Amino acid sequence: MELLMVVASGLAAVVLVSLVLMKWNDIKFGRNGLPPGTMGWPLFGETTEFLKLGPRFMKERRSRYGSVFRSHILACPTIVSMDPELNRYILLNESKGLVPGYPQSMLDLVGRRNIAAVHGSEHKRIRGSMMALISPAVIREQQVLLKIDEFMRAHLAGWDGKIIDIQEKSNEMALYVAFRQMVEGESSTLFNAFKREFDKLFVGTLSLPIKIPGTNYHQGFQGRKNIVKLLSQLMETRRADSSMMYNDMLSFLMEDTKYPLTDEEIVDQVVTMLYSGYETVSTTSMMAVKYLTDNPQFLQQLRDEHLAIRSRKGLMDPVDWDDYKSMSFTRAVIFETMRLATVVNGVMRRTTEEIELNGFVIPKGWRIYVYTREINYDPFLYPEPLAFNPRRWLVKELEHHKYCLLFGGGGRLCPGKELGIVKISFFLHYFVTKYRWEEVGGEEIVEFPRVEAPNGLHLKVSNYSS
Ligand code: HEM
Repeated sequence: MELLMVVASGLAAVVLVSLVLMKWNDIKFGRNGLPPGTMGWPLFGETTEFLKLGPRFMKERRSRYGSVFRSHILACPTIVSMDPELNRYILLNESKGLVPGYPQSMLDLVGRRNIAAVHGSEHKRIRGSMMALISPAVIREQQVLLKIDEFMRAHLAGWDGKIIDIQEKSNEMALYVAFRQMVEGESSTLFNAFKREFDKLFVGTLSLPIKIPGTNYHQGFQGRKNIVKLLSQLMETRRADSSMMYNDMLSFLMEDTKYPLTDEEIVDQVVTMLYSGYETVSTTSMMAVKYLTDNPQFLQQLRDEHLAIRSRKGLMDPVDWDDYKSMSFTRAVIFETMRLATVVNGVMRRTTEEIELNGFVIPKGWRIYVYTREINYDPFLYPEPLAFNPRRWLVKELEHHKYCLLFGGGGRLCPGKELGIVKISFFLHYFVTKYRWEEVGGEEIVEFPRVEAPNGLHLKVSNYSS
């Protein structure tokens, strides 16, 4: 009995202290004019609930407080906006004190000079240098498409009769095709070493920022250190032997006179481009295959589009810009996949000064999570939003709808948008024209914090013609 009383009073004390601490945190951040919401625990805020519940956390808070609310997640007081009009306003008004607000731990790994870490004139210069490498006008040139075509053919060769993990294959595809554009003519040993280190860096950016040996975050820094070393050595070797000519992005960045960059900026540009185009391209490719497998009528329509292209060409003729532009159903499949799978949940901003938004006063230094996920399931914009229906994207206006923020918006609109779509389109082109496949065994796909198949997504593949 006594023991019970001790346990009960212990519990009561814990509950009381918890309530006091949470109240104290609410008072600490509870200024007049802020949107409604709760701030959770001192230091940790509501991060645990957010990570555990993911999209449900957002929906539950929205039903309680409305589509703009405050919280404390990922170590920062945060305003979450699920209001489509406000989201658009935030993305279009960086100059009013709404700059990118990604966690410092992520910026430290991707690079302090990376594009998401700079704004104003610095951003203009770095973005200018990037657009000169990956804008649609540049990729339209045969050289870029030829290299992507060549890579896809080789990457997708020899799958007949095999069981492949399409998640692993999409992952390798997204990183290797980008890395080959960055540095051409290097051995596969270098590519493999690079991928090993890059994967460490990538996982590090998604981990808790605890920098002690053994943690993923710490490993991320090891990965970054080795990547900086590898890229610096490559630049050194190239500068030492000027007789060799290279036609790749690294040499372009090294010789760019219009937007001159320091070596540190070059390394960070390379890492940023690889980082931004890695998971986005690989997840969309994997999920497109998954949705097509589940919807054979759309797979047939997609295959017909690609077989028609092949019928106009010789066996070894590469896919060119005109072919790519004729892939309207493929483009629709890609947009529908990004929408339904929500490859990107939203983007982060930070206030550089006190700012008024929708009648609320947001203090300087707060993070704003421009949460775009829910708009992907808006029944007015996308009737029957949970159905995979690429045909809805054949109406051109939908891609340019003002609330379609799949690639962001404003001055930060994804510069790699067209390049990413090209890569996924070429991947699908060779996959559907060379192979048929069936899923091996109902493997699980999780949607948060990132879309992935924890045990892989295995397909039994055979030649399409056999
Ligand atoms: C097809 C898949 C892709 C999707 C869904 C996607 C999505 C996005 C989104 C939503 C943003 C806005 C971020 C923000 O506002 O903070 C963005 C920015 C960016 N993306 Fe992409 N992206 C894709 C492919 C690529 C590729 C292939 C590259 C590079 C080669 C790339 C490079 C970038 C860069 C550098 C930025 C930052 C732009 C800036 O801050 O000015 N992306 N992307």
